Amino acid sequence: MSKKTFYITTPIYYPSDKLHIGHAYTTVAADAITRYKRMNGYDAFFLTGTDEHGQKIARKAAERGITPKEYVDEIVSWIKNLWSELRISNNEFIRTTDERHYRVVQHVFQTIYEKGDIYKSEYEGWYCTPCETFWTERQLEEGNCCPDCNRPTEKMKEESYFFKMSKYADQWLEFIEENPDFIQPESRRNEMINFVKSGLEDLCVSRSSLKWGVPVPIDQGHVIYVWFDALSNYLTGIKYLEDDEFFNKYWPADLHLVGKEIMRFHTIQWPIMLMSMGLPLPKKVFGHGWLVMKDGKMSKSKGNVVDPLVLKQDFGLDAIRYYLLREMSFGADGSYSTESLIGRINSDLANDLGNLLNRTIAMVQKYFGGTIPEIGSATDFDQELQAVAAAVVQSMEKSMEELQMNVALEELWNLVRRANKYIDETQPWILAKDETKKPILGTVLYHLCEALRIIGVALKPFLVETAEKMGEQLGIGEKMDAAQWSETRWGLLQPGTQVKSSVEPIFPRIDLEEYFAQKASDKESKPVESKKKEKKEEKDLITFDQFQKLDLRVAEILEAEAVKGSNKLLKVQVEIGEERRQLVAGIAKHYDPEELVGKKVIMVYNMKPAKIFGVESNGMILAGSTADDILAVSALDKDLPSGSRVK
Ligand code: MSP
Repeated sequence: MSKKTFYITTPIYYPSDKLHIGHAYTTVAADAITRYKRMNGYDAFFLTGTDEHGQKIARKAAERGITPKEYVDEIVSWIKNLWSELRISNNEFIRTTDERHYRVVQHVFQTIYEKGDIYKSEYEGWYCTPCETFWTERQLEEGNCCPDCNRPTEKMKEESYFFKMSKYADQWLEFIEENPDFIQPESRRNEMINFVKSGLEDLCVSRSSLKWGVPVPIDQGHVIYVWFDALSNYLTGIKYLEDDEFFNKYWPADLHLVGKEIMRFHTIQWPIMLMSMGLPLPKKVFGHGWLVMKDGKMSKSKGNVVDPLVLKQDFGLDAIRYYLLREMSFGADGSYSTESLIGRINSDLANDLGNLLNRTIAMVQKYFGGTIPEIGSATDFDQELQAVAAAVVQSMEKSMEELQMNVALEELWNLVRRANKYIDETQPWILAKDETKKPILGTVLYHLCEALRIIGVALKPFLVETAEKMGEQLGIGEKMDAAQWSETRWGLLQPGTQVKSSVEPIFPRIDLEEYFAQKASDKESKPVESKKKEKKEEKDLITFDQFQKLDLRVAEILEAEAVKGSNKLLKVQVEIGEERRQLVAGIAKHYDPEELVGKKVIMVYNMKPAKIFGVESNGMILAGSTADDILAVSALDKDLPSGSRVK
């Protein structure tokens, strides 16, 4: 029997800038849904890609004096790399500059034209380049601003082809009535219905003043409007016009996952294009909310964007995936702050999950030599733990069907917390003191390992690295990698399995203050831009007396080692004359600890002691760096004894 299929898409991203954590949200959410479907036996096909035509890209390229293709190529490789860093499991990556896509878009245009639904006229109205959207005067906000992004629009007048959308208004309303689940969530459905009821106008679908796009097949002086081109990607991505069997296997799409601001294109324009072509309509379009900052939606123009790769470097992949999926109530807006991200890492990941795993593995090692014990005598709490595990799995399934990933994770944490409570209730350390209680102790540890195995399997759609690490630590790495969703049922763990002997915490705790202090010092160590340097104000200059307050000394490095949980910091022991001191230096990325031993460097001797990442630091090593992040510690050109003053 052939597998059930599931075709899911994200929007295709504009490669007009690097993407931020808000963009990553759509893709991470789609990835979790896809992984969940695959674990449930679906042949899930996940499509993402880039939307490379249009005025916005053409202008950006012109500003840089390069061709649009050269401009997008660079950013597209960056985007592909981003998805691979975030372990996005897409099956296909579509670029609208692919030749196969040109063929599809032109075919779509031609089919609709032949149906009599496209006609030539003149467009006179307004255009928002950042959104690539046409607006009529009455739709604009004050100051002729775009009602979606609030940025100024431009007046346009040119010969254009128009798509008879208005002709389909009634058919569209009927379809929506018969398919109440097509637009989700409900609030967005009402919004779209109101939009169509207020009067659907024909849509301009070509540009004659722009060259960067797919040529209109019947008129080479026009290119196809970028949204008409972009939406067709959902057909190209599954081999439309190329492989009928493949296309028919996946079409119609099961889910288009998009941000709320582009619902109109996906729930009105796209279905009407398909109606005109005579193709079946997608089953569902889900409009999620935005990840917003204190000062509004994250956007390059506001200068408040958060780079997902920096977050990954600072906190690890799964911390970000967890935060995005847990913190955002699906469908609604959610606000981003580094404080709340660190809060989640410390409470949910390090405290609840990390501790449960660590404590359990350590006890299996201590009391059973690392072998998962047989179930012996029962405790009063076993049944309840098993019942919670079963109930949690069931409610997670319901939440996933409703695409409520945050609720699914919240449910799963009920099991994590219940298992921690089970440790407190059964008190294994007391049981271990009495040899006659060993069978009860065995039961307790088996239950904990089994609960952790289930948690690991249930985490697989969301936290990819964590599920792998948990499998490894529990000694069931391969099984965990291959586990299906049905393996979330109780009792599949084999007693006798050998857990991993030495285990590192999977989520080290992060000290909020130290993190920000570290960030600030990273910023300070970056060179000042030359322009700013020229304008250096008097107040930035120091007097000789002020300089005299700095006690700089020659120090010899005796030992150096990495600071646990940080990939930037080294713990360094130095000798300053007769004295030995410990300090923390942010140079781990540039020096191996061994390489530093024996070097004589200049340090700030009278620096106020501080704790960095939980480690005492008494002084600061001077180092130089460039914009390319090349860093060198200070050195002396003649050998001076350690402890010598530098003036
Ligand atoms: N190119 C169009 C889509 C064409 S699909 C046929 C586009 N691209 S985009 O790069 O601007 O946005 C891609 C996706 O990222 C959209 O779903 C958008 O909602 C999402 N997000 C962009 N910023 C976001 C947040 N701050 N928060 C959540 N999602 C955000 O639109």
